Amino acid sequence: MNRTETAFETLETFISDPKTPLERKIFDIGPWFHNLHLPDGTQTAPNHPLGDFPSFKWEKISGAIPKSLKGWNVLDIGCNAGFYSFELARRGAYVTGIDLDGHYLRQARWAARQFGLQEKVKFRKMQIYDLAHSGTTYDMVVFMGVFYHLRYPLLALDIVAQKFKKLLLFQTLTMPGEEVMEMVDDLPIENREVMLNSGWPKMAFIENSLAGDATNWWAPNHAAVEAMLRSGGLEVVKRPDHEVYLCTHSGIEKSGNYEPEELSSAAKSVRSVITG
Ligand SMILES: C[S@@+](CC[C@H](N)C(=O)[O-])C[C@H]1O[C@@H](n2cnc3c(N)ncnc32)[C@H](O)[C@@H]1O
Repeated sequence: MNRTETAFETLETFISDPKTPLERKIFDIGPWFHNLHLPDGTQTAPNHPLGDFPSFKWEKISGAIPKSLKGWNVLDIGCNAGFYSFELARRGAYVTGIDLDGHYLRQARWAARQFGLQEKVKFRKMQIYDLAHSGTTYDMVVFMGVFYHLRYPLLALDIVAQKFKKLLLFQTLTMPGEEVMEMVDDLPIENREVMLNSGWPKMAFIENSLAGDATNWWAPNHAAVEAMLRSGGLEVVKRPDHEVYLCTHSGIEKSGNYEPEELSSAAKSVRSVITG
């Protein structure tokens, strides 16, 4: 398995024995990671190994998001087949979903037509880092299930922090543990064993594969998630589900040694590395 294949592509999440024309279409454009419930009740991934995903996550999160998003512009990063895009559009938002994977974007565009939401939701093929090169900002950004798939996660987080005005819905795979240590302003070099404390912010690097998915690169602990968000000038206002963080701008200077020039230079370099 290479880094562009995910474990879900090898699992039978889809309808295994399509009978109706709709089921046949779902089968043809599968496999699906999002189990969408279409208007007639047909599901796109009824055999999903995680269960009714991501409906069971949305049940926990939905109460933390304003019921009316009328007039809001929302960006859904790593939108996949568009589950969150559709839920937020139903609350009145105009949603832009971006994903690097054309397979999932095809599903999302097809599903938008099934739901009659094609005027409210647009999908674009785009790398998260390329958001740095667009001047558009959004009332809300959804950044769920993507951070740990990135080789350059802090670059992405710092870019994303500049893209939203009101709310950021952030989710990442994490390492076990909820402990948080009080941070010291400075750690003497001879005291580095403090970093072994379970509450010290840590991010495990996954060189090969996790859960059969070679696109999983990182697993931060809870302390690291909070520290990275804080360091990017963000504040956690709610934790509606395990590993899910609803954030606003803290209004406090970005902490640590955050250098805006470094972000700007890194974002420019990404483009020149990609284009050669
Ligand atoms: C685990 S799925 C999460 C899907 C959805 N956000 C959710 O939480 O259910 C990760 C999605 O992010 C997309 N993705 C991964 N890396 C990306 C990148 N660098 N830029 C844009 N999308 C990316 C993948 O194609 C995939 O659709």
